[in-house]
Amino acid sequence: METYRYVAPCLFGIEGVAADELRRLGFSDVRAADGRVTFSGGLDALARANLCSRYCERVILEVTRFPATTFTQLFDGVKAAPWAQFIPKDAAFPVDGYSVRSQLSSIPDCQKIVKKAIVTALQTKYGIEWFSETGTMYRVRFSILKDEVSIGLDTSGEGLHKRGYREIGNIAPLRETLACAMLDLAHYRGRDAFLDPFCGSGTIAIEAALKASNHAPGLNRRFAAQSWAFVPEKVWVDARTEALDSIYTGTYDIEARDIDPACVELAKENARKAGVAEMVRFSIADAAKPFAFDGTIVTNPPYGERMGDLTQARRLYAAFGKAVDPRARVYVLSSDEDFERYYGRRAAKKRKLYNGMIKCCLYMYFDEADKSRPVRRKV
Ligand SMILES: C[S@@+](CC[C@H](N)C(=O)[O-])C[C@H]1O[C@@H](n2cnc3c(N)ncnc32)[C@H](O)[C@@H]1O
Repeated sequence: METYRYVAPCLFGIEGVAADELRRLGFSDVRAADGRVTFSGGLDALARANLCSRYCERVILEVTRFPATTFTQLFDGVKAAPWAQFIPKDAAFPVDGYSVRSQLSSIPDCQKIVKKAIVTALQTKYGIEWFSETGTMYRVRFSILKDEVSIGLDTSGEGLHKRGYREIGNIAPLRETLACAMLDLAHYRGRDAFLDPFCGSGTIAIEAALKASNHAPGLNRRFAAQSWAFVPEKVWVDARTEALDSIYTGTYDIEARDIDPACVELAKENARKAGVAEMVRFSIADAAKPFAFDGTIVTNPPYGERMGDLTQARRLYAAFGKAVDPRARVYVLSSDEDFERYYGRRAAKKRKLYNGMIKCCLYMYFDEADKSRPVRRKV
């Protein structure tokens, strides 16, 4: 099977986590860069990455890569690539992309040049002037990073954070890929008791259940490349079979709570759609009131920017800081740079992450929990 190079964009701050996952999936030449990971593999890798990646936003099959600082170089580089090997005569092939720290900085102009170059290459190959673009979608994505062009086909379609279980969200849902990264940073593997006391639409608890049971996140959805002529049906069948065979059955202790009954109902419905309703216990509870819990808490309380105001959010951080059981390991995502002051404790570790465009930090509290655990002596 031919080997391709893939580019998988991911949220800033989780490139390393995404790269480790792709290595675990068995892909070669995995490299993490700014907001993306690249790797190599056959068409089977394309199917497995789409189906199994918890952290990547999409998987792009790279068609060509070259340096360019002028529109002529961009046109020539794109035109020289083997587009007809991938894109059939009647395909729709819209072009999207971005440019960062590069001389070619006008996105609309780059889009026009890339489209024109692909059309010219296909005209030469197919011997036709006009493309109706009425067939299957082969979305072209380019990136120009420090004058290096990478251009390919978007094999995912809708972003991979869309797992197919959360059509309707509450007012500030967390991206599924970010929720997974938080679980990874909290070293949650499904063994400890788990709680999200501010669950909203249930994203973190649902992703915890999917992760604990090794349930591939893409099993409930389709991908653009499933309709592509050059990708054999077999790679999807094999990837799905392997993913289904890899699901663990076990007993898990996963809880999701929220003060708002409507959120709890929504979270339950989302868990049902994700196929993990049996694995998560949902309840209505106020996280500002003291509660006993000896396990891992991963959560994102209201920020103050998007829900309610900052003073209210800070009052809640303070109340939550007092209410939380000191035995718990707590991982809180917040965009408030003064979070630790209001929560009442300095984090053992912090990690910068982005929730969409909002710069956040994952505040990690595990040292006190460790101190409060009995030390087992070797006998
Ligand atoms: C930022 S949202 C959580 C979003 C969630 N991670 C998701 O992906 O949908 C914060 C949630 O905290 C809940 N909340 C606010 N005050 C609370 C309290 N005192 N106790 C428990 N939940 C609370 C809100 O109802 C809201 O659903």
